[in-house]
Amino acid sequence: MIVVSGIAEYREARRKMNLSGPLVFVPTMGALHAGHGALISMARGLAGSAGAVVASIFVNPSQFGPNEDFHRYPRPFAADTALLNELGTDLLFAPDVSRMYPAGPAVVTVDPGPLADVLEGAIRPGHFRGVCTVVAKLLAIVTPDILILGRKDYQQQAVVKQMIQDLNFCTSLVVAPTVREPDGLAMSSRNRYLSADQRPRAAAIYQALQKGRDMVLTGRADTASLNALMTEHINRAGLTVDYALACDPDTLAPCAKYVECPVVLLAAARLGNTRLIDNLLIEK
Ligand code: PAF
Repeated sequence: MIVVSGIAEYREARRKMNLSGPLVFVPTMGALHAGHGALISMARGLAGSAGAVVASIFVNPSQFGPNEDFHRYPRPFAADTALLNELGTDLLFAPDVSRMYPAGPAVVTVDPGPLADVLEGAIRPGHFRGVCTVVAKLLAIVTPDILILGRKDYQQQAVVKQMIQDLNFCTSLVVAPTVREPDGLAMSSRNRYLSADQRPRAAAIYQALQKGRDMVLTGRADTASLNALMTEHINRAGLTVDYALACDPDTLAPCAKYVECPVVLLAAARLGNTRLIDNLLIEK
């Protein structure tokens, strides 16, 4: 695996690859886990032997709020590079903040549009502007044919999909399924923050989504009762729910009185200082 930290250096390495197959890109903030591993394996399959897998590691300051975990975000770079290498990544782009934002925060940024006003966007103002801006910069640098994002960050993939469509990026988005721990907890770099006492309780989020799915699949689910069922289950485990809602999978608008499929159940909750998100798409 080639590792580069500069933009010119990346472009030179990309040119030298002289590809006849697709360049498949997996952007990350590092602190990699088996969920990222699945994205890289999927990328390897899509790239084949004629294409290439490119990953990036960049903890992007512009997507963190002032009181969020930018400074304590884990940065186990040696373990991350070893995993990427083992899974068949061809090229890793790992810039530092001064390479991505040499003159300080970007002056021209990407307006993420109305999908970013709700849910995570309402609780984390500016988050999706930061995500879209850095993803746009990464796409301009990496120039991939295919971008892979995980479905765990459901709203992120929806916002980025809209950006790719509206700004005509020459990249197709592939969304990969969420990878879970044996008790159902969605894999996330932030799971590392959980104490031994908190960790088992975090599984309540996925349990709540499953209860919600059961309710949807057994008949005509009343939206308010469904949302209350999910919220109560998570709160009972000692977490604090930010939201637990049934929404339209495309517009992210909350369901009307009754839930109609397809629907996505989206939840976010806090456990101590850790904020966790998860979702379940029900297509029927
Ligand atoms: O999902 C993430 O890890 C980040 O939001 C991303 C897409 C790498 C942009 O910084």
